[in-house]
Amino acid sequence: MIYDRFERPITGVRISVTSRCNLRCIYCHKEGIEESCTEMTPEEISRIIKVCAKFGVTRVKITGGEPLLREDICEIVELSHVDGVNDVSMTTNGTLLEEYAEDIKSAGLNRINVSLDTLKPEVFSHITRGGKLEEVLNGVETAIEAGLKPVKLNMVVMEGINEKEIHDVLKNYSRDGVVLQLIELVNTDSEFFKKYFFDLDTVERSFEKSSDRVTVRKLMHGRRKYSVNGSVVEIVKPMHNTEFCAKCTRIRITPDGKFKPCLMRGDNLVDFLTVMRSGASDSKLEELFKEAVLLREPYFKVK
Ligand code: 5AD
Repeated sequence: MIYDRFERPITGVRISVTSRCNLRCIYCHKEGIEESCTEMTPEEISRIIKVCAKFGVTRVKITGGEPLLREDICEIVELSHVDGVNDVSMTTNGTLLEEYAEDIKSAGLNRINVSLDTLKPEVFSHITRGGKLEEVLNGVETAIEAGLKPVKLNMVVMEGINEKEIHDVLKNYSRDGVVLQLIELVNTDSEFFKKYFFDLDTVERSFEKSSDRVTVRKLMHGRRKYSVNGSVVEIVKPMHNTEFCAKCTRIRITPDGKFKPCLMRGDNLVDFLTVMRSGASDSKLEELFKEAVLLREPYFKVK
């Protein structure tokens, strides 16, 4: 197991396999990557996951852009299951999920996160700048049927846009195997953030009162989990949350093959793809991984 300078073990890797997306969500943080870029092959992805796994990474999250835009996504999922990895998951916008859910499940995907911020078609179209809600709803159903478990719904809660829908979404997905994840907005543009940030503290307090069970998850950034009338809800508060950072155990990889020590920063990336493509040995790649781990530091620190 490898630890960073702040005694955080690195047990997960979040790997963006493309910067392309078929939606343009108004809040998107784009994993810090704006333009389209070269993409890694499934073999390159697998090779770098092996390097991470050698140091104790057991969980792989495939993300984008929109990962299902990769035609070779099944191969990517399959080759992500290297020795030592026991959990391969994906974050998707769900628009292509109806078509792909069974295939990615067969390829070895364990579970899935789907962005679902609203149940209103017009609000969905506004948030995604033209997306069709129905595709995502069908995608969610297909994912559940395909046996992906849990299916987590990511709802980024925004003031005046969807904050009044929390209970509707909760009620609609009060089903075994489905988890609703309420996420506070991460700042990408301060004007936007100021206007739409919605604090989930009050919502959380009402869950605390009515929930049958509260579990604080140790590893996943200490996020809180509630069971409310048969629905499972998690609350994620990434901004100015020192606990969120203190419990961060994952390193990120950009679609163009760089380690990214922190979601919030773009100034300390460590390129490995260029080196890999010029014929680097595994030990060179291991050195780069260690270098990136040592660059890690909590973005929001206890002062
Ligand atoms: N704030 C909070 N969450 C965000 N996501 C994307 N951008 C933001 C943001 N600015 C989350 C969405 C999506 C996942 C890929 O990242 O929940 O499902």
